[in-house]
Amino acid sequence: MPATPSPPPEPAAEPGAPVLEVRDLAKVYPLTQGVLVKRQVGAVRAVDGVSFDLRRGETLGVVGESGCGKSTLARLLVTLEQPTAGEIRYRGEDITRLSGRALKAVRRNIQMVFQDPYTSLNPRMTVGDIIGEPFEIHPEVAPKGDRRRKVRELLDVVGLNPEYINRYPHQFSGGQRQRIGIARGLALNPEIIICDEPVSALDVSVQAQVVNLLARLQEEFALSYLFIAHDLSVVRHISDRVAVMYLGRFAETGTGPQIYDHPTHPYTQALLSAVPVPDPDSHRGRERIILAGDVPSPAAPPSGCRFRTRCWKARERCATEVPRLAVPSSFQGADSPAAHPSACHFAEERLPAPSG
Ligand SMILES: Nc1ncnc2c1ncn2[C@@H]1O[C@H](COP(=O)(O)OP(=O)(O)OP(=O)(O)O)[C@@H](O)[C@H]1O
Ligand SMILES: [Mg+2]
Repeated sequence: MPATPSPPPEPAAEPGAPVLEVRDLAKVYPLTQGVLVKRQVGAVRAVDGVSFDLRRGETLGVVGESGCGKSTLARLLVTLEQPTAGEIRYRGEDITRLSGRALKAVRRNIQMVFQDPYTSLNPRMTVGDIIGEPFEIHPEVAPKGDRRRKVRELLDVVGLNPEYINRYPHQFSGGQRQRIGIARGLALNPEIIICDEPVSALDVSVQAQVVNLLARLQEEFALSYLFIAHDLSVVRHISDRVAVMYLGRFAETGTGPQIYDHPTHPYTQALLSAVPVPDPDSHRGRERIILAGDVPSPAAPPSGCRFRTRCWKARERCATEVPRLAVPSSFQGADSPAAHPSACHFAEERLPAPSG
């Protein structure tokens, strides 16, 4: 294996220590009307009070339906956008208001892999120029004379033939293009990679190959991942922990066994019931839950619990009181897989779900 990216410039954090601490993060977009004179007629609460830690070397899977705020969260974490409120601490320092050299140094360490390898690669640039582009901004990582060698190494690391360095994106398949996107993400030897639905645009048959590649690179380069998907089954095998997102907030967080085998939030239960199981016998009795209604608009989210308009457990309290993401009180300290954070007032209650 070629010894690609050089070690990070500063001493790395302890294994398991948080590399990213996100607190009460929010992004509100103004909703405007009018062509010539724009009037603000409302606000879209795309991310609305999200808190979590990303630990060194782990993968946190983030799952939720279209429009729930996943890409907005990703763009905030890589500092492509400024939050309306909240903090993102990287190595203990809030990075949301940085500028100049300090911002540049942080951006080097937090990279992103985009969803669609068909649109995120410039069709007029060669693969060598695409992967080497980050070196233009960070020449200290690879001096000009050494860049082609570095790019060849990166191609090899992601399983592409280094001889393809002069080819153009259209000469590659979807899976190969995503490998190019990953090589570009790796070029600056980051500590964290935010993967925004990196396999959603790919054929099912290639999805596993790309997920396996990401898992191998994580080991090799001690990377921490935030891995976004809209389907719980996609993140199952790569995630150490999973966060389920609904209308700008985290509904439930936990380890794989906690989320997949002991979900306590009705939304997670509904999402899981829609995932096909390879061995139906082992899941006998699991009914498919049909949720009532559509996802409400993030410009006019329901009061109290955002999920209440589609929830079979909802009652008065849910309309008036926002549920906190916390371990339910009767499970606290319990050695039970149900003892994990859930933003539901009635997480402890087992009510039969409506089935379809
Ligand atoms: N730049 C923007 N200006 C205004 N509204 C925005 C902007 N970006 C996102 N939104 C809105 O914020 C909400 C969250 O969008 P976001 O793209 O983060 O969702 P997502 O979970 O990534 O969806 P998908 O699964 O479709 O990729 C949506 O209602 C979207 O319309
Ligand atoms: Mg998105």
